[in-house]
Amino acid sequence: MAHNEITHDVIIVGAGLAGTWAAMVAAREGVSDIGVLSKIHPLRSHSGAAQGGIAASLSNTRPVAGTGPRGPLEEVPPGAEASDSWELHMFDTIKGSDWLGDQDAIEVMVKDATEIVYEYEHMGCVFSRTDDGRINQRRFGGHSAPRACFAADWTGHVLLHTVHEQALRYDVKFYSEWYCMDLIMEEGICRGVVAMDVLTGELYTMRAKAVVFGTGGYGRAFAITSNAFANTGDGVAIAYNAGVPLMDMEFVQFHPTGLYRHGILMSEACRGEGGYLLNSQGDRFMNTYAPEKMELAPRDLVSRSEQTEINEGRGVMGDGQGIYLDLRHLGRDKILERLPQVREIAINFVGVDPIDAPVPIQPTAHYSMGGIPTTLDGQVLADADGALVEGFFAAGECACVSVHGANRLGTNSLLDASVFGRRTGYAVVDFIRNGAQLHPVSGDPAAENRARINDLLSRDGDENVEHIAQELKWTMTNNCGVFRDGERLQLALEEIKDLQKRFRHARTMDKGSRFNTDLLTTIEVDHLLQFSEVMVAGAIARTESRGAHSRTDFVKRDDENWLKHTMAHKPMVYEDEDAGPRLSYKGVDIDWEKYPPQERTY
Ligand code: FUM
Repeated sequence: MAHNEITHDVIIVGAGLAGTWAAMVAAREGVSDIGVLSKIHPLRSHSGAAQGGIAASLSNTRPVAGTGPRGPLEEVPPGAEASDSWELHMFDTIKGSDWLGDQDAIEVMVKDATEIVYEYEHMGCVFSRTDDGRINQRRFGGHSAPRACFAADWTGHVLLHTVHEQALRYDVKFYSEWYCMDLIMEEGICRGVVAMDVLTGELYTMRAKAVVFGTGGYGRAFAITSNAFANTGDGVAIAYNAGVPLMDMEFVQFHPTGLYRHGILMSEACRGEGGYLLNSQGDRFMNTYAPEKMELAPRDLVSRSEQTEINEGRGVMGDGQGIYLDLRHLGRDKILERLPQVREIAINFVGVDPIDAPVPIQPTAHYSMGGIPTTLDGQVLADADGALVEGFFAAGECACVSVHGANRLGTNSLLDASVFGRRTGYAVVDFIRNGAQLHPVSGDPAAENRARINDLLSRDGDENVEHIAQELKWTMTNNCGVFRDGERLQLALEEIKDLQKRFRHARTMDKGSRFNTDLLTTIEVDHLLQFSEVMVAGAIARTESRGAHSRTDFVKRDDENWLKHTMAHKPMVYEDEDAGPRLSYKGVDIDWEKYPPQERTY
């Protein structure tokens, strides 16, 4: 074995819910040699930041009869008819996705939902409870029943801790603060990864029979985002560079309630529990845009409504870029019981206690609907025709299976990461049992990546990499945000091209090797610049409005031309280095009898 070479049966990159589920299941089912790499401490993974709930049609609560869609909830008495079903969850998810979600994948997810929530419960997860001890459920936007199983507003945190404990129990090895730099692909087969031990700066060739990416989303391409600093889309960029296509990258969710200027998540549970959105005139403006669902319309619609109020001069705060989230009428006890984290964040970051005053919020880049295309079992697709990349799997937000289509419903992300993380775990077990090989690698991939690092560190231009990142993020927020149009998207594309050129000379300040976070930022910015181009190229090409992709110059959904997934390939090496991604398209899985496309109104 070469110096700096490590081997495992399975290497999983990312220790959020998807990666940890895959690792835990594979270990529990008998694959003993699993390594999980995480660029941060595993328990700081962004799944832990999800607040409001995980969806499952348990039918534990229902609206009190005769009180209307926003009335109080009551427990469903034992023996009473179920008030929710997987079929209803499926329809809500398809409608939420603006019919771009693949219906075979959605069916798998909503059917597995109840089982996975009970599996969490059996592993000891501390869900909030009804008076008679069942898992409590509250409302979320776009869901026609109270379906969000929750643990106050710490749901992602408790789910992540629960599954992480189990992974430790089955002796999964975690490489904490190890940064994956590259996929090793030869002859179309994934043979491992190159990773850096951040503490020492050493690079390792890590060979494996199977590699799983659970690397999370790409919200850090935007200036206002709820995403953790770590969410720089490394996984999607690394896959793209290795020749894997990216799917539906133009679809980015803007959550309606990010803390004003900070973007930090103020959970949708605030509205699920009854919170109001108010403009500068004190009006509950959702009455104009979604009179029935009001604040519990799906996120794309609520964010557009907020942005319209702001654009038309009815925003709040000095620059008029905010909206108020008013929780005061919920009362102190409910806020402390159900929304303690939200309260703490509002106090700490903007000095507002939601018990006493409305909280300023604004739309914030929140979730990446696009990503690495996969089968229902997490196997990565090599093209639109369904060819597979041998030995490569992906699940969770970095993947696109696609259950969310053009717009995700709140609480379906923890569900997606859990269900498809678990399925990927089982698929990896089968793959290993069916004789998967530890393939040799030619050359020295670690040395090739060392050369890349040396090149980055040798750049001595006047400009700091961080300036380039800031310019990119504001360009994306301003020109590829809640509302888009061809002219602004084109501007964004030109700016990205310019930033890519400037990046080639930009300086990394820290030239050292040990714990060089400045170097990591440089690599992350490289990734941001690469996949942002893919997002914008997909958005320019898609001349329609669908879900979160809302174009003011093409305001209607256009099923005749655009009921299809975007697939973006990196240009081949012999093409012009400035050539953009090659776009092709893939059909959507639709049950035309049961769930044909309809007009989407709320
Ligand atoms: O609003 C929230 O609590 C976030 C949940 C989600 O994105 O699913």
